[in-house]
Amino acid sequence: MKARPPPAPEAIWPLCLAIAQRHRSGVDAADVPAGVVWHEATGHALQGSTDHAAQALFDLLKPLLDGCRRGAGWAVGQLGQSLDGCIATHTGDSCFVNGPEGLVHVHRLRALCDAVIVGAGTASLDNPQLTTRRVPGPNATRVLLDPSLRVPASARIFNDGLAPTLLVCGDDRRAEAEARFGAARVIAVARRANSRMLALPAVVEALHARGLQRLFVEGGGITVSEFVRQDCLDRLHLIVAPVLIGGGQRGLTVQPATAMRDALRPPARTFALGGDVLWDLDLRAAPMPNPQP
Ligand SMILES: NC(=O)c1ccc[n+]([C@@H]2O[C@H](COP(=O)([O-])OP(=O)(O)OC[C@H]3O[C@@H](n4cnc5c(N)ncnc54)[C@H](OP(=O)(O)O)[C@@H]3O)[C@@H](O)[C@H]2O)c1
Repeated sequence: MKARPPPAPEAIWPLCLAIAQRHRSGVDAADVPAGVVWHEATGHALQGSTDHAAQALFDLLKPLLDGCRRGAGWAVGQLGQSLDGCIATHTGDSCFVNGPEGLVHVHRLRALCDAVIVGAGTASLDNPQLTTRRVPGPNATRVLLDPSLRVPASARIFNDGLAPTLLVCGDDRRAEAEARFGAARVIAVARRANSRMLALPAVVEALHARGLQRLFVEGGGITVSEFVRQDCLDRLHLIVAPVLIGGGQRGLTVQPATAMRDALRPPARTFALGGDVLWDLDLRAAPMPNPQP
């Protein structure tokens, strides 16, 4: 009898989605979809043989899937960037930095999460839909960080009805935001002391209170960087494309280190996404030691 071929990535994605969905719908934590096993110490694993690409997809998403099973909220950020660290040209054009595999990955993250978060810069320049149209899976609630209400009410996310949309603004703009979008769609939070930035722990708490536990911070650079600076991300996926933009919108900017020994060096894994390389940074683990010559 001919051996059955091992499952391809297309067969693994529905399993990943099923793990995330089970948690979302409150199914007994002991329950896992067929083809997957769970061990308290090591988390989810695929049962039986599988091909390399399918295993790689599962390995990439496993930290997020294990987080779903453990029931705690988590947040993952992403930036698709060039080799020279840009996420768009100086005019704001980012279509497209990454190849199709990178775009599919972004849509998969949307589908695994309860909320997809973007900053006012991205919403103004791209007028995105933030849906999961490239993969099977549910749309997440869209969350816009727009402290000063500069994104027009005509933006797609407020009007297309494809998924719920929440607006996060400064508490000084609450009344205006509620008049424009309705109180149910508005989260108003305080700014950080001596900063124009909103306090992101308060944003995360408000989203959790609405049942949105798994957060995907999709961009752009200012927004993701601020989540890193305020220690509100568990993992960061940097998808590096073999392209040079030559100056443009900056990607990640973190606190500058004076000496290399002080630079952030989180544990990292790499995955090939077509011609791009995804760096998965574990921002909750102990930093790696500085390399010794
Ligand atoms: N390659 C990629 O993966 C990717 C992904 C998404 C977007 N993009 C591109 O990135 C560019 C936009 O990125 P960007 O970095 O300029 O802007 P952005 O991160 O999209 O938005 C930044 C703005 O959002 C608001 N904001 C975000 N976090 C905030 C916080 N914690 N507190 C207060 N306000 C907050 C602020 O609005 P105010 O300025 O009103 O204060 C801030 O200036 C576009 O060109 C887009 O196409 C690329």
